[in-house]
Amino acid sequence: MDHKETLDSLLHEMRVFRPLPQMLIDAGVNPQDLRAARELADIDLCAYWEEAAEELDWFTKWDKVCDSSDAPHFRWFTGARCNIVYNALDRHIETVNKNRLALIWEGEPGDSRQYTYYELYRAVNRFANGLKRLGVTKGDRVVLYMPQLPETVISMLACARIGAVHSLVFSGFSARLLRERLCEIKPRVVITADGFYRNGQVIRLKEEVDRALLSTPDGIAESVVVVHRANVEVEMDSARDCWYADLVRHERPHAPAEIMAADDPLFILHTSGTTGKPKGMVHSHGGYMVGVHRTFKWVFDLKPTDIFWCSADPGWITGHSYLVYGPLLAGTTTVMYEGHSLYPQADRMWNIVSKYGVTIFYTSPTQIRTLMRFGHRYPDQHDLSTLRILGAVGEPFNPEAWLWLYEIIGKGQCPVLDTWWQTETGMIMISPMPVSVLKPGSVTRPLPGVDADVVDSEGNPVPAGKGGFLVIRKPWPAMFSDVLGDRAEVMDHYWNRIPGMFYAGDVARKDEDGYFWIQGRADDVLNISGHRIGTAEVESALASHPHVAEAVVVGVPDKIKGQVAKGYVTLKHGVERTDDLHRELKEHIRRELGPIVVVRAIEFCDDLPKTSSGKILRTALKE
Ligand code: PRX
Repeated sequence: MDHKETLDSLLHEMRVFRPLPQMLIDAGVNPQDLRAARELADIDLCAYWEEAAEELDWFTKWDKVCDSSDAPHFRWFTGARCNIVYNALDRHIETVNKNRLALIWEGEPGDSRQYTYYELYRAVNRFANGLKRLGVTKGDRVVLYMPQLPETVISMLACARIGAVHSLVFSGFSARLLRERLCEIKPRVVITADGFYRNGQVIRLKEEVDRALLSTPDGIAESVVVVHRANVEVEMDSARDCWYADLVRHERPHAPAEIMAADDPLFILHTSGTTGKPKGMVHSHGGYMVGVHRTFKWVFDLKPTDIFWCSADPGWITGHSYLVYGPLLAGTTTVMYEGHSLYPQADRMWNIVSKYGVTIFYTSPTQIRTLMRFGHRYPDQHDLSTLRILGAVGEPFNPEAWLWLYEIIGKGQCPVLDTWWQTETGMIMISPMPVSVLKPGSVTRPLPGVDADVVDSEGNPVPAGKGGFLVIRKPWPAMFSDVLGDRAEVMDHYWNRIPGMFYAGDVARKDEDGYFWIQGRADDVLNISGHRIGTAEVESALASHPHVAEAVVVGVPDKIKGQVAKGYVTLKHGVERTDDLHRELKEHIRRELGPIVVVRAIEFCDDLPKTSSGKILRTALKE
């Protein structure tokens, strides 16, 4: 996007959904509370976050809530001592939560395991002691190349408990990528599994680790701990490898939580890298814990009877913040599923919802678009009446998919929360709450304590209805606390593109009500005859055609117009790819968006290229 310009906005979604009266009555945070919280945060940001921090346990309280003396390297809760795992486990052991389910896990073949808070506490302590026996100490790094297993959660917590820094590498990555990460992170220990189940197949994971470690420099991964999951034969190097079960067998179920400075690192996680190389973000114990705890409880309006299911992989930030840390900090029950959402058939997700009585389901637009291809037949076969809140994150949520989730899954009774945030932000930043007035396709308004805006390249707010760059003006506690590699360069990228503001890399517009509409990544903006248009709007328009399941749009060069759009489309089940449909889709775009968006061609595809976290890879399509 050319910097001085703003974006054109062509799509005008007018539908509005008001909260049901009962939701307003039951809400822990009602609209008045929300207004008061916003006012407090506007007047005194630190007071707002200090109040949030008071809800958690600290070994020593802070001298300062936010230290800006070295901005943009902000430091939160300086002087404080804490441990996020103490807050996620120990403090629940002292309450009725002790015997409550912390984790419900379901394997793809249908096996299931459950842990109460007390059981999880003991398992974490055992493994923490096991890690110590392998020589892991405070500040050491541990790579988790793990599928979705209870041991993944246990390993994350065990590392954090003893002050080690965990770094998850997504289990769908190959040995080559794993090796790259290992060389960058230099872990003392790698934790993995023999294999896992995915779409009816066994994926052999340990083999990938062996390949990745074949030629790494000395000192990387002195030990490899292997969880026994899929019963596949693996080669064990007796000097380096050990089985998880053997390691913990004789360990005591007690291990003290290491006393950490609030800004000591908790984990390293790479951004997903739809545009540009993934960057290693560091999050720390104190600020991250406060931001994730507050946003989890408020956004999902947590109740003591909730069963929370976040379908994201723990290898991504959504899994870190809202599958593992958020739910456990809040003392709720978190659900984890190992496998593929369409295995053995397209009702698996709905089966899990009904089987465990899930009350809050947090997923991604990609997941919803995948499931809606099959219509309402599968949801209709299951009792989804326990659901009370639905949420999504990760990409623009087109109104058609939003409405499908609202009507077919939520039966018009559950608010759909479209939450905007990033690996960098650590916590949800812009999102409705269950008491908000919803507009399908909008992430609504920034949460209290988040000063987000849409600006031009010089940092001036753009008028309502015009698109621009999404920025955050003031710091927030769960912001990344450090980065791997050249810190100055990375800080410059985020804080100096628009001086003094955090540049999120997304384009968005605000409407007359101050609602935010995400229009896509700034690097993907289309420029057709001088009109700048976010990809999300064109994709939304395409996906609003009843035959389309999912759509991606990229800009392709054009001699006259500079750029024109090219669409890639997957169709709903049973729809035929015909020339007529091709023509009809082009007309549909014209009707929806006007004559500005010139679509040169539309290609029908079986699948769209995506990153392993489900984001569309436009760069691959452009090439
Ligand atoms: O482009 C935005 C998109 O996902 C990016 C962040 O990706 P990642 O760091 O992998 O974290 C994803 C999960 C937190 C953002 O810059 N994105 C995220 N949420 C939304 C979104 N785009 C539109 N609407 C959202 N709700």
